[in-house]
Amino acid sequence: KASSMEALSLSLSPPVILTQDELKKIAAYKAVEFVKSGMVLGLGTGSTAKHAVDRIGELLRQGKLNNIIGIPTSKKTQEQAISLGIPLSDLDSHPTIDLAIDGADEVDPHLNLVKGRGGSLLREKMVEGACKKFVCIVDESKLVKYLGGSGFALPVEVVPFCWKFTADKLKNLFRDSGCVVKLRNDCKGQPFVTDNGNYIVELYLKKEIGGLQVASDAILRIAGVVEHGMFLDMATTVIVAGELGITINKK
Ligand code: 5RP
Repeated sequence: KASSMEALSLSLSPPVILTQDELKKIAAYKAVEFVKSGMVLGLGTGSTAKHAVDRIGELLRQGKLNNIIGIPTSKKTQEQAISLGIPLSDLDSHPTIDLAIDGADEVDPHLNLVKGRGGSLLREKMVEGACKKFVCIVDESKLVKYLGGSGFALPVEVVPFCWKFTADKLKNLFRDSGCVVKLRNDCKGQPFVTDNGNYIVELYLKKEIGGLQVASDAILRIAGVVEHGMFLDMATTVIVAGELGITINKK
């Protein structure tokens, strides 16, 4: 699969030391070059996607883009887009999206992703699953050898009703990987509540998951689970910004 991917590297010259946020912005601006007037756009969530949404707003204001319709993946992005004057709609009215641009927490060599550190994984998966093209934008720190390889958790959105029961089922599913489960808290130490009124259970896995699709199906079969943060075979392009330049990886 990896060999069928096309990678294009663009060097940044002269070499400069950039902050992580500057790299995120470079990846985001590159992705916005794929946007054409008249498109229905999935608008991602997070600090990388925020740069892309800002740029789309700027190009609209300058009259360099016209007739864009944005489908936001979170309430936060919706507010940002409204403040920038980006016309918005939803999946009910626009079930097919031309292009979505969004960040990720991890990208593996097959362009599978982990998303959801910002807690918007359900709406992101719905919107990005409805796209003809999904351009994922990351700085190079997000590249991993395998999903879970960064040491961060795999987020799973669960219904609040008896969430401990659901968390135990998840822990049991990954017992061979030495799985630790934790409920995500907000900054006040209260359960983090998603835009959909649900909780997030974080799965810390000590080993690589063998068979991602099988694991995905097994997680989704647990009744209290709403969605998980593995985005398998969804990104059509991943733009990676690093100290040495931009790499555009296509499926
Ligand atoms: C939110 C996400 C974000 O896209 C992901 O967490 C990356 O965030 P950032 O661009 O801030 O690093 O999935 O649910």
